[in-house]
Amino acid sequence: MEKLIDTFARHISYLRLSVTDRCDLRCVYCMPKNMKFMPKKDLATLEESYQLVKIFTDLGIEKLRVTGGEPLLRRNVLWLIEQLGALKQTGGLKKLVMTSNATQLAKMAKPLKAAGLDSINISLDSLDTHLFELVTNGGNLNQVLAGIDAAVENGISIKINVVALKGVNDLALDDFVRFAATKKCDITFIEVMPMGDMGNETRVAQYLPLDEVKQHLHKNWQLTPSTYKSGGPARYYDCAETGQRIGFITPLSQNFCAQCNRVRLTATGKLYSCLGQDNQYDLLTILREQGVQAVTDMIHQAIVEKPKSHDFAIREDYVAQTNRFMSVTGG
Ligand code: 5AD
Ligand code: SF4
Repeated sequence: MEKLIDTFARHISYLRLSVTDRCDLRCVYCMPKNMKFMPKKDLATLEESYQLVKIFTDLGIEKLRVTGGEPLLRRNVLWLIEQLGALKQTGGLKKLVMTSNATQLAKMAKPLKAAGLDSINISLDSLDTHLFELVTNGGNLNQVLAGIDAAVENGISIKINVVALKGVNDLALDDFVRFAATKKCDITFIEVMPMGDMGNETRVAQYLPLDEVKQHLHKNWQLTPSTYKSGGPARYYDCAETGQRIGFITPLSQNFCAQCNRVRLTATGKLYSCLGQDNQYDLLTILREQGVQAVTDMIHQAIVEKPKSHDFAIREDYVAQTNRFMSVTGG
């Protein structure tokens, strides 16, 4: 089997599959209130998404993240998770994980666990009911907390993802560390990225560099660099007081593209080889018109052409390489 290795000697072993670009929340840094979604008729069927994933696992992809938008809003998504869970038995898939906002998790945790889901990254940017409602444009914190509890009760391992935002959660950093300790889960802080056209002023106002977050946390907690690697972009510290890990994802302040091991497939079957660049490959059309071998060839081409890095920056005069919102390519 020919492994997926790009021209910068990076081994590609991780696929993120978006199953919808829709979401029931409108996080202020993620999408505008009047977000335009892709027409549903353009979506790959779940069978087609599965067929595409199968081609990737045959090419050596070992970790799969199902994402969105909010993946649990896609109708029949459980069917897909069950098929993917079975790929862990028969195919080369080793880890099946998801990114979710947890609004649907109270009812979905149990069947997701049964289907073979290993872990969920849960996005949670405020622990204050009112602020949560503001930052998500109408979300209900209690619904999300119930979802988190359901995941824990059903034995799905979770990680909390917090996008660091000036004026939203910069005064609540310690609360997140304590919250993660009560749920016995790791927590990761993420720098906001200039994805989708929200205006440079907005990004400048939102951006909280993680060295500031780290500096603050160092004052209150004993943090030592951890050897743990999740296979994603986070760099971890062990927190002596809580026994949990605290991760930092720093696309802006400390670029991690040299270790990139992933590519992304949208809900419409387009492969993006980089989150921050526009290189895209219409695998779904090729699958429909030409079949598996042609898809395989196109994946190899995409890997050869995988860009060296994104060129995200947050400043007034930044000109983006892509205007895609995060919800198109998946987090
Ligand atoms: N910058 C950083 N993170 C983002 N997310 C969504 N949009 C952005 C952005 N512009 C995060 C969500 C979620 C994951 C899918 O990506 O909070 O954790
Ligand atoms: Fe939805 Fe996640 Fe975007 Fe919030 S960040 S609007 S939960 S996709």
